[in-house]
Amino acid sequence: MHAGSAGTLADGRRRSDTALELLQAQRPSAWPRVLLDRAGRYDADGAFADAEAAGAWSVWREVMSTSPRAIIRIVSESRLRGRGGAGFPTGDKWRTCHNQTADQKYVVANGYEADPGALLDRTLMELDPHAVVEGVALAAYAVGATKAYVVVKSTYRTAVRRLENAIRGAEQAGYIGIDALGEGFDLQIELVELQGAAVLGEETTLLYALMGKKPLPEQRPPYPAVQGLWERPTVVNNVETLAAVPWIIANGSAAFAKIGAAESPGTTLVQLSGAVAHPGVVEVPLGTPLREIVEGVGGGVARGNLKALLVGGAPGGFLPADGLDIPLTFDALEAAGAGMGSGTILVVDDSACIVDVATLMTRFMNDEACGKTIPCRIGLKRLTEIGERFTSGLTRPTDLTVLRDLCADVRDSALCGHEYAATNPLLSGMRYFPQEFEDHIARGTCPAGVCRRLSVAAALA
Ligand SMILES: Cc1cc2nc3c(=O)[nH]c(=O)nc-3n(C[C@H](O)[C@H](O)[C@H](O)COP(=O)(O)O)c2cc1C
Ligand code: SF4
Repeated sequence: MHAGSAGTLADGRRRSDTALELLQAQRPSAWPRVLLDRAGRYDADGAFADAEAAGAWSVWREVMSTSPRAIIRIVSESRLRGRGGAGFPTGDKWRTCHNQTADQKYVVANGYEADPGALLDRTLMELDPHAVVEGVALAAYAVGATKAYVVVKSTYRTAVRRLENAIRGAEQAGYIGIDALGEGFDLQIELVELQGAAVLGEETTLLYALMGKKPLPEQRPPYPAVQGLWERPTVVNNVETLAAVPWIIANGSAAFAKIGAAESPGTTLVQLSGAVAHPGVVEVPLGTPLREIVEGVGGGVARGNLKALLVGGAPGGFLPADGLDIPLTFDALEAAGAGMGSGTILVVDDSACIVDVATLMTRFMNDEACGKTIPCRIGLKRLTEIGERFTSGLTRPTDLTVLRDLCADVRDSALCGHEYAATNPLLSGMRYFPQEFEDHIARGTCPAGVCRRLSVAAALA
């Protein structure tokens, strides 16, 4: 499934500026598949029966023979952790919501994919929309929700169409809707298209947007599982988290728990981009050393030498070239100053300047901040300005100290997590590439030759 015709990818998705290839050919056959197990085995624009023949909805058809508590126990025992970035245990979130007494509960599938460079959720929703919708139904049954929303970026036209097709098909089959499965369980699933800043992907912001309120992050606790949409208990899960659930219930929690790393079991989608030989999306067992992903699947750097990996998107952290043996787990990446974030790995070769890339990411995070919290509103602007002093040759001797102190202050006062993560590129850049920062100050030069000193002469040249 690597090359398609000029207009389409081999899996039938329309090739657009952003649609990415699945790196199937380069993927070791021993790696188990959970999320894309069914991808390409049915036409996601086609008949509901074809998706069913490929295995979709087989867990849901039998779900009423298992109690909601038992479903939650299976998910807990699988040790599934949320794929939205923070890695929160899914079973714990569901149990909290299940235990609330309320006249109405909700499930929200977060397919917003805030990181504009990431296309993993989009790939999943395009290739197996039924896994996402069946996962939503299972979550709703487990926590006792009768209304669910699947939120997608409105620009993801193929994903929107295919999810809509999956929802309508499930309704017509009597699997969801009033008296689902003829078992007296009502479940309405609605697709919602949203478009806005990156912060819209944050759960409290997403819930405000769904309620038609001004979409700004809110202080937690209370967490949405206790008090979410219209103050009712609401489970918010990333679409990848939910898509893993039908597989877990079909195959058992032990089968899932034994894939990958003990503290982060299962598989996840990873996107390779930047200076890599084979950019694209691949399903990877968690715990896999980054080397096997970047070199084994991605073919290493396209030209020159590997300098760094930016793991986790714009709010992610740099790892140096000798960080390739770090395993892809929430905890190992966090300890190394990066993070799972959006699931992207930007490969940086030695023609790039780390100060320049870190500043670019900080500028993006500053532009996307909603402005509600002062340390984020002002702090990210100042961090961007200082970064740009480095890249334009106008640094002051104290800039490195100011940068470190300001990053620490900004992290300490995070309301929604955006500002905490926004400091990752600069902090990890200073941690692993201090010499590059110092050279910009002490010598006024950029070792990579990327940043140019601003001068009237240069501007007129
Ligand atoms: C600024 C910001 C943006 C976020 N964007 C997303 C996003 O696009 N998709 C997502 O699933 N989670 C995103 N999150 C995390 C969500 O707030 C939430 O934790 C997640 O959807 C929960 O799902 P999970 O438990 O399955 O990981 C974002 C968080 C922050 C702070
Ligand atoms: S931390 Fe930043 S993005 Fe989050 S609420 Fe505050 S200003 Fe908005």
